[in-house]
Amino acid sequence: MKTIIEPFRIKSIEPIRMLSRQEREERLACAHYNLFGLHSEDVLIDLLTDSGTGAMSAAQWAAVMRGDESYAGSPSFYRFEKAVKNLMPFKHVIPTHQGRAAEAILFSIFGGSGKNIPNNTHFDTTRGNIEASGAVGHDLVIAEGLDPSNEHPFKGNMDLYRLDKYLEQYGKTVPCVMITITNNAGGGQPVSLANIRGTAALARKYGKPFVIDGCRFAENAWFIKEREQGQQDRSIPDIVRDCFVEADVMTMSAKKDAFGNIGGWLALNDDDLAEQARNQLIRSEGFPTYGGLAGRDLEALAQGLSEIVDEDYLRYRIRTNSYIVERLSKLGVPVVKPAGGHAVFVDARSWLSHIPPLEYPGQSLAVALYEEGGIRGCEIGTVMFGRQPDGTEIPGSMDLVRLAFPRRTYTQSHADYVVEVFEELSKVKKRLGGYKITKEPRLMRHFTCEFEKL
Ligand code: F0G
Repeated sequence: MKTIIEPFRIKSIEPIRMLSRQEREERLACAHYNLFGLHSEDVLIDLLTDSGTGAMSAAQWAAVMRGDESYAGSPSFYRFEKAVKNLMPFKHVIPTHQGRAAEAILFSIFGGSGKNIPNNTHFDTTRGNIEASGAVGHDLVIAEGLDPSNEHPFKGNMDLYRLDKYLEQYGKTVPCVMITITNNAGGGQPVSLANIRGTAALARKYGKPFVIDGCRFAENAWFIKEREQGQQDRSIPDIVRDCFVEADVMTMSAKKDAFGNIGGWLALNDDDLAEQARNQLIRSEGFPTYGGLAGRDLEALAQGLSEIVDEDYLRYRIRTNSYIVERLSKLGVPVVKPAGGHAVFVDARSWLSHIPPLEYPGQSLAVALYEEGGIRGCEIGTVMFGRQPDGTEIPGSMDLVRLAFPRRTYTQSHADYVVEVFEELSKVKKRLGGYKITKEPRLMRHFTCEFEKL
């Protein structure tokens, strides 16, 4: 069969509603053209993030009922721990309420002023936690990873040559080596197993712990199976284990590839580090057998981990993005290629080339997608990265709009609808204008700043 179908049927639904164009324009003006300011009920198709927004299965909801809310030693924790260890063979598994809580604990131990931490590309909360500790994060993704149209199969790979030089140069100031799979900030692009092994080998050569940010580990494993020589006949769980056996530590947002609406974990092998992490966890998150979670959340994650490695699911999941990328390309909309795992990234700077970067072409496109079709995406460009610590502003390295797909939530007709909205926009794009920021906080301005149309 040619058609890759959604490998599930729908038992429970949530209505979505289409406001009139005038209502959408009013809502936007009320939100000062910042899409984070919209009420989600006013959004038809919400592609703001794939984090915590997926649909849980009937088996996950059944597991929720089994959740045991004991403060210490809950059987739900032991089921969760077993499910994690089945895929990621770490000695210690420490639950947290989100991925960023795991990062905060890790960098309270590894961070500190004068420290330098390499990654393929740090996600913004990772960088935030590193910087909050006084350390500095550096991105060492391969050059192909920064070229939106380069079709390299593993654009998330670490540049091993630069990493080697980096470790030599920064020496003792490097507390750990990190890699993020898939590379979210670089377009959801995968990292090959060979590159994970190469990165781990360099970390070992310099005596550094190797940390994997594993948020989208199953999508990454699917790409390895599809694209890496010698991996085609292997099972997804085996590929996943091969990735994590290389690592000393992992951080995880279970809101992605564990099908959770909430949750995360920190996993590690070193007993002393684990003790420090658990002490910090008790101070900020909760007792080590629940972290910041309810027992029912741990149950949902344990079940979710057995579902996320299903090949029919992963085939459909990855195909959703590549389908939209193919159709947008045919329309002449410039998109990051090849398609990433969890999101489609549109190159707004090049599509709306009449809008200069400092008038935020990404924001203009994101607003237009809502105005035209009730779709909410997210600017990843000059609004997000342009403001400098001294208050000045420079263009971001790219002006992208990310359309991130919640897991198992939307169907192919929703995908077709998204493409159709781009079709309509391509007729009027010359008329789309830029924006100026009228009010902004000092840090992470994209969440709350206010805009005016120019
Ligand atoms: N690491 C990566 C690669 C992420 O994509 C995220 C979250 C985190 C860590 C933090 O996890 O949200 O559970 O605290 N990414 C979401 C996104 C928010 O929209 O890309 P968290």
